[in-house]
Amino acid sequence: MSIIRDPLLAPEGRMKINWVKEHMPVLGKLAGEYARTKPLAGLRVAICLHLEAKTAYMAEVFRDCGAEVAITGSNPLSTQDDVAAALAGEGITVYAWYNATAEEYESHLQKTLETEPHLIIDDGGDLTAMLHTRFAYLLPQVRGGAEETTTGLNRLRAMADKKALKIPVMAVNDAYCKYLFDNRYGTGQSVWDGIMRATNLLVAGKNVVVAGYGWCGKGVAMRARGLGARVIVCEVDPVRAMEAVMDGNVVIPLLEACRYGDIFVTVTGCKDVMTEAHFLEMKDGAIICNAGHFDVEIDKEALMRLADEHFQARRNVEAFRIKGKNIYLLASGRLVNLAAADGHPAEIMDLSFALQVEALLYLNNNYGSLKNEVLPLPRAIDEKVARYKLEAMGITIDRLSEEQLQYLRSWETGTGGEA
Ligand code: ADE
Repeated sequence: MSIIRDPLLAPEGRMKINWVKEHMPVLGKLAGEYARTKPLAGLRVAICLHLEAKTAYMAEVFRDCGAEVAITGSNPLSTQDDVAAALAGEGITVYAWYNATAEEYESHLQKTLETEPHLIIDDGGDLTAMLHTRFAYLLPQVRGGAEETTTGLNRLRAMADKKALKIPVMAVNDAYCKYLFDNRYGTGQSVWDGIMRATNLLVAGKNVVVAGYGWCGKGVAMRARGLGARVIVCEVDPVRAMEAVMDGNVVIPLLEACRYGDIFVTVTGCKDVMTEAHFLEMKDGAIICNAGHFDVEIDKEALMRLADEHFQARRNVEAFRIKGKNIYLLASGRLVNLAAADGHPAEIMDLSFALQVEALLYLNNNYGSLKNEVLPLPRAIDEKVARYKLEAMGITIDRLSEEQLQYLRSWETGTGGEA
C-alpha cells in the first residue's frame, strides 16, 4: 500500500506526467521496445529520486519492463504530492510526500527497501547507504544499483575505498549523456527557473556569485551571463578556477564576493560553503540559494543565530534580518531547482533517465559477472542514447568511411605519408 499525501490530487499529477511524456522521446522509444520483451519480468526495482513528473514517467517505464516498482523521494522538498498520487494509482508503490520530516523521510526509504528489491536507483546515496546498514541482509539478492548524482558517487566511492560497497553500482552521473547535458544545461536552466519563480525578480544587471565551477556550476554561470548578469565565480580547484577565468567570469574568493553579490548560488557538493563570516559581509537584500545535492552548503543555523528577525517573505523565500540588513534564503537552502521549480527540463531528463533504464538492464544482463565497485557506463550505452535523441530531434550526422576507420586504427601514415 502506498503512503502518499492525498489520492485526490491524482488528476493534476497525471496531467504533469502526460506533458513530460510528450517531451521524452528516447524514454518513449525504450519503453516501446521493452514493453514487448519485458526484460525485468519477475524483478523488483526500488527507486529513490526526486519524485516529480519525469521521474514518475521513468518509474512507469520500469513497470512496463515487467518490474514491480517501489519509489520514494530523494529530498523532502522535491516530492510533488499530485505526481505521487497519480503514480500510486498506476500499480506503482509510492512512499513519499512533500515536506516530510527527517523521521518520515527515513521511514519512506525504509518502506521502499522493505519491498526487497533486486535492483535500485539512487540520487544522493541515501538508499544505498541504508541498504548496506539496516538492510544488509538483502545484499546477496541485490543485482546492482545506479547512481544519479556527483554527491552520490562521492559517497559510493568512499564506501568502495573502505571495501564497504557490496553491490556493483553504475555511475550514471559520469556518462557523457548525463553530465554534459543534465549537469550543465539542465542545472543551468532549472536553477534560474527556481530562483525566478521564488523571487519574481530581475536577473539582468545583477551581480551573480556562483560558488563551485563543476559541470553544474558552469551551467549556472553560463545561464546567468545569458540573462544579463555580471558573474563572479568562486573556486577551490585551480584548474576549474582557470576555466572560469577563460570563460569570462571574475574569479575571487567567496568572502570578497560577498561585498558585491546580489544573488548567490552554492553548487559545490561540499559543506559549510557560506557561513557566518559571509553573511556579515553581504549587502542588504542579498539572495542566497543552493543547487548542491544536500542542504549543507549554506549554514542555516548561523543565519538563525545571527538574525534579529526571521520571517517568510514569499513562498520559498525566508528573510533573515541581520544587523539592519535583510538576507533572503530560498527553498530552505535545499536544491532550489527542485524545491522552488520542477527540476530539469523534460528533454534533459529524457537523456538521464534513458541512461538509468539502460544501466539497470546492463546490471541485470551481467548479473554475477560484475565487481562490487563503482562502474562506468559502457560507451555503447552513451552512444545509443545520443543516437536515439538525435533521431528524435530529426538530426542526422556523418559516418566514417571504411578507409577513414582504417586510418584511425593505424599508425603507419605520418607527416610524409607511409613510414
Ligand atoms: N528531476 C528528477 N530528478 C532530477 C534531478 N536529479 N535533477 C533535476 N531534476 C530532476
